[in-house]
Amino acid sequence: MPRNAMAQLTNRNFIIGVTGSIAAYKSAELVRELSRAGASVRVIMTAGAQEFITPLTMQAVSGHPVHTELLDTEAEAGMGHIELARWADAIIIAPASADSLARLCDGRADDLLTSCVLASPAPLFVAPAMNQGMWANEATQANVSTLQDRGIKFLGPDSGSQACGDIGTGRLMEPTDMVLNIATHFSSRLLEGRRVVITAGPTREPICPVRYLSNHSSGKMGYALANACAEAGALTTLISGPVALTADPAVSVIRVTTALEMHEAAIREAASSDVFIGAAAVADFRPASVANEKIKRGNKSSAVIELVANPDIIAEVARIDDRPKVVMGFAAETENTEAYAHKKLIEKAIDCIFVNDVSDKTIGFDSEFNAGMLLSSDATHELKPMNKRVLASHLLNHLVTML
Ligand code: PMT
Repeated sequence: MPRNAMAQLTNRNFIIGVTGSIAAYKSAELVRELSRAGASVRVIMTAGAQEFITPLTMQAVSGHPVHTELLDTEAEAGMGHIELARWADAIIIAPASADSLARLCDGRADDLLTSCVLASPAPLFVAPAMNQGMWANEATQANVSTLQDRGIKFLGPDSGSQACGDIGTGRLMEPTDMVLNIATHFSSRLLEGRRVVITAGPTREPICPVRYLSNHSSGKMGYALANACAEAGALTTLISGPVALTADPAVSVIRVTTALEMHEAAIREAASSDVFIGAAAVADFRPASVANEKIKRGNKSSAVIELVANPDIIAEVARIDDRPKVVMGFAAETENTEAYAHKKLIEKAIDCIFVNDVSDKTIGFDSEFNAGMLLSSDATHELKPMNKRVLASHLLNHLVTML
């Protein structure tokens, strides 16, 4: 299990709901795994669950009294069901019987577990465990669809041989796999509440009404980063040059064409953001003047276009008063990649830079893949060729560490 994902469980509060199933004994292992990861766990058992495993066992593994009754004055005087519901960072029902899925679907509140689920704003995970025929039944599958539509996350079920002798889908997911899934859920919200601004794609620098200077950037790298950041909970703004891509609906996209337009949007959006990522291939120069009419070839055997430098957007972002906490640049190089990238890191006064060798046609510009090195003042990480979406999640993990 990845260490950084597991770290997301430390100091989190989990309610484990145990319902009536032969797999109930495995919930003790789930409690132990979560506790080992540094989480606090409280257990709620239904009456059915207590037919399969005793509250005493669950008390021993969780280190806390087990909650079983809704109308128990003594328990309500300690941590009552509303307090439990507020305390939890997530509720995990494991095993979840077919009956418990139906009851969740109906929004019942006639026992402690269902009342707690209704009262809690925390994410709910259910790990079904039942006979394969019960799982495949149309009624169960309709309940599963309803619960999934409400955003409830399913852990399994797994397939294989069952306690009843059948073979099929309905086995409880292994506790270690459940813990990994839950850890991944929390690690995927690593940028919750953060503001991230990303530039992507090329810029186009007009020469005349029909021609422009540009480059081969497709925007794939920047869009992958924007989608990953939005998925990780960040308020994400993507300043995009002209590309044929669509970002996830959670990303706010500002479309620009020229470097000057990108510059204006970047300076405005970067102020008071947490992270700025410059994945765009910004044209360093633009024509000094733009012809009003199409430039005619006529009899000319050559033509000269005078260029003037565009602003260095990322270097300016790194210098604004309300500077983002982390500024990540990209360096597109064809030789001396590490040395040139290091120079850019220093000269632009940014916090880190990902350098890709764009002479390699299998990665970089317009490829689905990328590879390179992430440099900061005190560390270097090599990232082997991988899909840009996967690379984006690696870079995101580095950003979180830097934040
Ligand atoms: O878009 P794709 O097809 O997916 O390809 C991805 C990519 C190759 C474009 C991407 O991985 C990449 O390398 N982007 C940076 C390209 C680039 O312009 O590199 P550079 O070395 O020229 O610039 C260094 C940094 O300064 C970059 O963060 C760039 O956005 C920024 N810059 C450059 C010039 C300028 N005027 N303003 C800037 O902000």
